[in-house]
Amino acid sequence: MSDASRPPRIDRTALEALITREQSSFVRTHRRSGELYAQGGAHWLYGAPSHWMRRWIGGWPICVEGNGGRYGVALIDVDGNRYADFCLGDTGGMCGHGHPAVAEALARQAAAGASTMLPTQDAQWVGQELVRRFGLPYWNLATSASDANRACIRLARMVTQRPRVLVFSGCYHGSVDEAHVELADGAVRLRNGIHDNFFPHDRLAAVVEFNDVPALREALARRDVACVLAEPVMTNYGMVAPEPGFHDALRALTRDAGTLLVIDETHTISSGPGGYTRQHGLEPDMFVVGKSIAGGVPAAAWGVTGALARRIHAVLPPVSPWVRQSAHAGFGGTLAGNALTVAAMRAVLGQVLTEDAYVRMLALARDLEHTVALQLRRHGLPWHVMRVGGRAEILLVPRPARNASEVRRTRDGELEGLIHLHLMNRGVLITPFHTMMLVGPGTGEADVEAFGRAFASLAADLAEIVR
Ligand SMILES: Cc1ncc(COP(=O)(O)O)c(C=O)c1O
Repeated sequence: MSDASRPPRIDRTALEALITREQSSFVRTHRRSGELYAQGGAHWLYGAPSHWMRRWIGGWPICVEGNGGRYGVALIDVDGNRYADFCLGDTGGMCGHGHPAVAEALARQAAAGASTMLPTQDAQWVGQELVRRFGLPYWNLATSASDANRACIRLARMVTQRPRVLVFSGCYHGSVDEAHVELADGAVRLRNGIHDNFFPHDRLAAVVEFNDVPALREALARRDVACVLAEPVMTNYGMVAPEPGFHDALRALTRDAGTLLVIDETHTISSGPGGYTRQHGLEPDMFVVGKSIAGGVPAAAWGVTGALARRIHAVLPPVSPWVRQSAHAGFGGTLAGNALTVAAMRAVLGQVLTEDAYVRMLALARDLEHTVALQLRRHGLPWHVMRVGGRAEILLVPRPARNASEVRRTRDGELEGLIHLHLMNRGVLITPFHTMMLVGPGTGEADVEAFGRAFASLAADLAEIVR
């Protein structure tokens, strides 16, 4: 490993001292959130409605009171602390908190009936817009990106009659058994020590490092891979960009092998109105987008090419309702595409994630990236910042990593925890799982300036402990 990919030495005693200082400040200023979290332990399995909420640093998650009554990315907690939110629900809240168009659409549709198992007129508009934006001609809605990915995998297996799904080490595609594998020193193992769920990963999953074209070629040559499921830029384990030519190779190799290519743009949708796919001319067979597209209401969409639609219809024909056979297709979900979600999607795609909004948000994301880079340089911190669209990530080594194994060597739980806590104590929220900041259409210049001030204070403190 070259020096450029080696994390710098940290004075661990000084780091502990900073953590203690920040921790006691957090406890002092977040008492009510702490009490509510403690009460939550009486009924929530992990103290809060979702198990991962306990992953927020500080000892407990802050309890959100609201956004101060104004659209944007401000959040106010039950202790009266105010934050500029750069976590944005890890993209679920990318549209910002309380956009009037989303609020109005939700209120209108809630009053008219949220879920009827029937389409509304909004669905026509949304379907046409998905085609216009992302280029794929046929779509289906799901309630989460996990669900959408599982549907794509099932269909890929049905049409190819192949068992295996190939993913890139370090990926995250939601609650998808096939994608819970990673490579460590060349060996396949379950990511984060997750339980195997008695799923036969050795038979149904395959994993290679991102950017490793020879390994990909070898894995696909066995011709038992139904689909490759990939983010166009890896965003869930630090950030790893595709090397020049990687996407061309991925597309050519999958085509040659008769393997379908599923591009999951749940996070990279921050690249532009048509995602990274449209921006870079990718040609997936299936395309998944989730989280943000209904303004924070659970939703996802997946699209397929015309050629794949014909293959799907050949194995799963659209039958007449007079044929009394089961409606089960193995994917879907009763609430998928419900009227409330579709109304929110129409508001988001029509009025929030617009071309103009992307122009503004990408300019602000560039400002944020420059601020971080400047502070790192000014304080001699040997790290770097990467960005894909509105999403920026700080990686604790001087140069970008090629794959997840390189990122793994840079991870430092205590240091990352301090970064999160330090920023939170200064009114800035970033995603709890790694060091990611998301700029959305609700982010304003003042929010980026607030981030800049908090980050400058953090960088000054970190300069004292990094050798
Ligand atoms: C790329 C990607 N795909 C899918 C998912 C799963 O999304 P959800 O939890 O909404 O099902 C995630 C979640 O972080 C993700 O990052």
